[in-house]
Amino acid sequence: MCGVGPNRRLVHAANSPLAAVLEALPRVSQSRAPVLVTGESGTGKEGIARLVHELAPWSRGPFVPVNCGAIPTTLLESELFGHVRGAFTGADRNRVGRFEAASGGTLFLDEIGETPLELQVKLLRVLQDRVFVPVGGSTPKSADVRIVAATNVDVIDAVKRGRFREDLFFRLDVIRIELPALRDRPMDIPILAQHFIALHAASNLSNVDAISDEAVDELTRHAWPGNVRELENVIQGILVLKESGRIEADDVRAKLGLRSGASLARGVAGSGALSASQAARYGGATSHAARSAPAVNLPAEGLSLKETLDRLERDYIQEALTRANGNRAQAASLLGLNRTTLVEKLRRMSEAAHPPGGLRRRAHDTLGSDGQAELALDLLESLTQ
Ligand SMILES: Nc1ncnc2c1ncn2[C@@H]1O[C@H](COP(=O)(O)OP(=O)(O)O)[C@@H](O)[C@H]1O
Ligand SMILES: [Mg+2]
Repeated sequence: MCGVGPNRRLVHAANSPLAAVLEALPRVSQSRAPVLVTGESGTGKEGIARLVHELAPWSRGPFVPVNCGAIPTTLLESELFGHVRGAFTGADRNRVGRFEAASGGTLFLDEIGETPLELQVKLLRVLQDRVFVPVGGSTPKSADVRIVAATNVDVIDAVKRGRFREDLFFRLDVIRIELPALRDRPMDIPILAQHFIALHAASNLSNVDAISDEAVDELTRHAWPGNVRELENVIQGILVLKESGRIEADDVRAKLGLRSGASLARGVAGSGALSASQAARYGGATSHAARSAPAVNLPAEGLSLKETLDRLERDYIQEALTRANGNRAQAASLLGLNRTTLVEKLRRMSEAAHPPGGLRRRAHDTLGSDGQAELALDLLESLTQ
């Protein structure tokens, strides 16, 4: 365990891949070389960045985070480098940017992969020359900061596709820290669950202080597309409802069952797994598109929310079944569902589309009900709807 802020610690099991990552941090933190933290959303990238700062000789200096993906392009330059009075309409005084604010400390550039190309050039210049010029200014200022950048997109892929400058990537990728997804370190789930119970029980007016082995097993079966953040939210959600005792498997099942749709939309869409046509249909659900356009596409004449959500659910289920080659247990795990929940959903979808006596009944009679036949039917049904 290591400290990140007063009540924030990064916890892990002794045999977790995270242990090796943390072991290297004290050494990494001594250097001024840029650090690039990669990992899916919710894996703890910001936590690691803070730790790199806290372990550094300049830990008394500021730690300044900037979310490069959340700030509109037009504002990001002034946010990073500041501006001088009169630089643009509304700039009625000088403004200190984050580079200057982080002077003598650490500047955390979060979601660096989302930085617009024109700003990437300017960042590259700062990294090369260690100076920057505020917007509208002419005097360079020195950038005395340690840079830690984080990205949840595959930057290497972005570099190949020309969305991220290769030269900037090499400047940032001096020390790489790769955080594994939670599904690849299930040994951390028990200690993380216990940690979040201890962290959040009191503020949720709950006396819960433990979790049963069965509940942990249930947690371990989930795919965690939102990683540790999602686990933290699930535990917190359970604590809100439960006053005392320990967390049981039923609490976990109820919580995961209720929120499986939402976690799927975030997880799968966020990782870019939605096909282009699906993304277009749901109004650009990829993380990048969602920022530049409204997250959803609500027609002027309105829509039926139920039908839209049903269609979204059907598409995800179909995609998961295709990827899992018709294996329902695997498809269920991809969707963060119990197998029985998925089977039940398929049964309901099938009944809605084809009342008893319809296609599925006839196909069953001729083909039997093995996995491949079921997959063929699932796909056929979704095509004929
Ligand atoms: N190993 C860990 N131990 C305890 N809490 C963690 C751990 N990893 C992540 N968290 C918590 O999960 C949440 C998401 O972590 P964060 O660092 O913001 O992830 P990211 O930046 O990769 O999206 C935060 O509340 C963080 O404190
Ligand atoms: Mg983050």
